[in-house]
Amino acid sequence: MRILLLDFVVLFASALARGTKSKICTVQHLGGMQDDGPNIRAAFQECSHNAKIVLDKYYRVDSLLLTTNLKDVDIELSGTVQYTPDIAKWSPESLFLTYQNATTYWFLSGTNLHVYGGGTIDANGQNTGTAGGSSTTFARPVPLTIGNSSNVVVENINQISSPFWNNFVYQSTNVTYKNINITSISYSSNPAANSDGWDIYRSSFVTITDSVVNNDDDCVLHIVTSSPAFKPNSTNIFVSNMFCNGSHGISVGSLGQYAGETDIVANVTVRNITMLHAQNGARIKVFGGNPSPNSTEGGGTGFVRNVTYQDFTVGDVDNPITLNQCYETDATICAEFPSNLTISDVHFINVTGTSSGANGDIVVDMECSTECQDITATGTHISPPNGTAEYVCKNIASTAEVRESGHHSEQ
Ligand SMILES: *[C@@H]1O[C@H](CO)[C@@H](O)[C@H](O)[C@H]1NC(C)=O
Ligand SMILES: *[C@@H]1O[C@H](CO)[C@@H](O)[C@H](O)[C@H]1NC(C)=O
Ligand SMILES: *[C@@H]1O[C@H](CO)[C@@H](O)[C@H](O)[C@H]1NC(C)=O
Ligand SMILES: *[C@@H]1O[C@H](CO)[C@@H](O)[C@H](O)[C@H]1NC(C)=O
Ligand SMILES: *[C@@H]1O[C@H](CO)[C@@H](O)[C@H](O)[C@H]1NC(C)=O
Ligand SMILES: *[C@@H]1O[C@H](CO)[C@@H](O)[C@H](O)[C@H]1NC(C)=O
Ligand SMILES: *[C@@H]1O[C@H](CO)[C@@H](O)[C@H](O)[C@H]1NC(C)=O
Ligand SMILES: *[C@@H]1O[C@H](CO)[C@@H](O)[C@H](O)[C@H]1NC(C)=O
Ligand SMILES: *[C@@H]1O[C@H](CO)[C@@H](O)[C@H](O)[C@H]1NC(C)=O
Ligand SMILES: *[C@@H]1O[C@H](CO)[C@@H](O)[C@H](O)[C@H]1NC(C)=O
Ligand SMILES: *[C@@H]1O[C@H](CO)[C@@H](O)[C@H](O)[C@H]1NC(C)=O
Ligand SMILES: *[C@@H]1O[C@H](CO)[C@@H](O)[C@H](O)[C@H]1NC(C)=O
Repeated sequence: MRILLLDFVVLFASALARGTKSKICTVQHLGGMQDDGPNIRAAFQECSHNAKIVLDKYYRVDSLLLTTNLKDVDIELSGTVQYTPDIAKWSPESLFLTYQNATTYWFLSGTNLHVYGGGTIDANGQNTGTAGGSSTTFARPVPLTIGNSSNVVVENINQISSPFWNNFVYQSTNVTYKNINITSISYSSNPAANSDGWDIYRSSFVTITDSVVNNDDDCVLHIVTSSPAFKPNSTNIFVSNMFCNGSHGISVGSLGQYAGETDIVANVTVRNITMLHAQNGARIKVFGGNPSPNSTEGGGTGFVRNVTYQDFTVGDVDNPITLNQCYETDATICAEFPSNLTISDVHFINVTGTSSGANGDIVVDMECSTECQDITATGTHISPPNGTAEYVCKNIASTAEVRESGHHSEQ
């Protein structure tokens, strides 16, 4: 038998007059090993319009949170939402979102939503057992997806132990994240993997600011992704004041993977970033062309336009600035079939710091298969651990200022 514990209070005219919510639902918790999912869902049904939902306890969630059709809802998360750890069980029960086989534990959807409160989303993902991406048979869900939504603010929230990307912005517009602390630490021998801070898909006007992304240093042997990754069709994205430790960098892409599909990323501003112990710093990755109309390894069309990375400090980063238009594409195929996905109006301003030396003395590596237009790097001061900084630029128009110092090779 399930017992629903839900306290709700209806406030009358005086509250409305003050502009506060007319109804408050405070979600109780069952305790023990019971699933708090039904209580949480009941609160989101009861308080779905012009209301406030209070999650101030510890909640053990063992079933999908599909909370949709919300309007003007405040969600005060001052407690902890912890998902149960059996990923194999969750795999078929989480919500499938098609793109990269991503699934989610919590699909939060509506308009004018405010999530806040200093609480924690603990995905309990340290025992996932496998590394790598999600598949249709073994899915590692995303702890929080803002999907099919508009006008959403998520602020003052901690996220720990995600088995996959931490946040997915899915088909949404005007979504702001502020003061989010993400820690993807593996407590077991399994590494945290693909734990991107944010993935943005078919979304516009997304702002991510004042946030910290940390990954466990004990996992340095393994590849761990952390920071925002801009995936297909994302426009007007602003990322600022981020501290990232141990990650894959801040990436646009990968794009153009599928022949016959169009990917667009435009109007991206990334500013005031500290990126330490990472594989990449500022990165753009696009697949090359492909002769097969059914290719899943390049051949897509579209464009990357108007992307600026500014005031970016790197420390111990393998590839501080990297732009690749033959991503995961065989060099001969890429030479014969250049990418149909153009890259233009990309600016790296004031990127400074040190590389790790993993790529020798190369600190800037920009390689286009067809000529990329209007690419500049100004105020670049990046030192490799030994030797003189080397800049690799291939098929780049307007590189004049890339060469701040050091050796420049053009192929
Ligand atoms: C999605 O899952 C299928 C089947 O498990 C797998 O073949 C495919 O590579 C996966 N796609 C991605 C992008 O991971
Ligand atoms: C999101 O919106 C699309 C239509 O754009 C719809 O097909 C889909 O079912 C929605 N997803 C959810 C989980 O509500
Ligand atoms: C974006 O969302 C915020 C917060 O909900 C809201 O204040 C603002 O008016 C929205 N902007 C637009 C252009 O709708
Ligand atoms: C995130 O961590 C910083 C310190 O690193 C702290 O000041 C801030 O309050 C934390 N945010 C939350 C939501 O707990
Ligand atoms: C840059 O970001 C850091 C957090 O990483 C913050 O402490 C600092 O105030 C920001 N600087 C500016 C000029 O906004
Ligand atoms: C991206 O936008 C283009 C142009 O609007 C559209 O043709 C394409 O289907 C979109 N791609 C995705 C993945 O939404
Ligand atoms: C980029 O921003 C400009 C200026 O606001 C706007 O005109 C343009 O439509 C935007 N591009 C896209 C693809 O959203
Ligand atoms: C480039 O994008 C920024 C937002 O990231 C926007 O403010 C600016 O207007 C865009 N410029 C052009 C030429 O579209
Ligand atoms: C591409 O896929 C279509 C439909 O599945 C098929 O008819 C066609 O033969 C395929 N073409 C190639 C070159 O593989
Ligand atoms: C370059 O960026 C750093 C932060 O990474 C900032 O402190 C400095 O003021 C910036 N310099 C210029 C000339 O804008
Ligand atoms: C994509 O590029 C190939 C050559 O690499 C070309 O044959 C094809 O027509 C292009 N497709 C589009 C849609 O531009
Ligand atoms: C830097 O040079 C030192 C001494 O020559 C060498 O031991 C070290 O491996 C070099 N480091 C890198 C990253 O190349």
